[in-house]
Amino acid sequence: MNSQPIGIFDSGIGGLTVCKAIHEMLPHENLIYFGDTARFPYGTRSPETLIRYARQITAYLLSRNVKMIVIACNTSSAAALPILEQENTIPIIGVINAGARAACKRVHNNIIGVIGTRATVKSGSYQKAIHAISPEVKVIQQQATLLVSLIEEGWINEEVTKLTITKYLQHMIDEKTKTVILGCTHFPILKATISKVYPQLDLVDTSEEIAREVKEILVKKNLANNSLPGKIELYASDITDTMHYLKSLFFNGDDVPVEKLTIG
Ligand code: DGL
Repeated sequence: MNSQPIGIFDSGIGGLTVCKAIHEMLPHENLIYFGDTARFPYGTRSPETLIRYARQITAYLLSRNVKMIVIACNTSSAAALPILEQENTIPIIGVINAGARAACKRVHNNIIGVIGTRATVKSGSYQKAIHAISPEVKVIQQQATLLVSLIEEGWINEEVTKLTITKYLQHMIDEKTKTVILGCTHFPILKATISKVYPQLDLVDTSEEIAREVKEILVKKNLANNSLPGKIELYASDITDTMHYLKSLFFNGDDVPVEKLTIG
């Protein structure tokens, strides 16, 4: 048994879906979540900057004696996971491999679509991860950065959001894509809206798959905590009204306060 916490980080509050999924699957684990809201969004930043941010956050989480780190942010996973893995000895995992694995299990027509931020798509990380599992699958990627801003605005069901979804996804539909990875922490919020526009799509949400991966690693490495109910600590680098609004959207109703923490 090991009561050390698991560290989880994201560019903002969207990664709380991952935190929630891990808490639901592993209710005995202590979790420390950091959302880098002061430096949000990550999706338009360069790989060098994303690696610097990820190293700073990792150093903080290590100072809190975490036994494992989960990069809940797709953009940060794409840019920084290989380097963080090389530089550290504890298990560090990111959402991209989990998303690729889940999509490959559910592939239709031998095509997988991926929507994410500009940085995630430019990195080609989903394509690499999918081809490592199923080299024959055709991967159609599309950056969909504007959807992040529409969600932050609270425009979940608006006409403008549906039109933007069409603009980004129609070419995938034309190619008979059925499986689409929601490759950005914010996009699960649009699941119902995307399904209204394109009911035929099977939308892959990475949070459940990554929670399963965390469980597997803890069991395999004998790191699981089995006794007390787990405690969740939430930190963000800036506390704003938008952050509170998004917390209610992504963490629905759980009454865990968010503390301000400056990193870097
Ligand atoms: N956490 C980011 C991601 O999953 C959300 C968007 C951003 O920071 O630009 O890619």
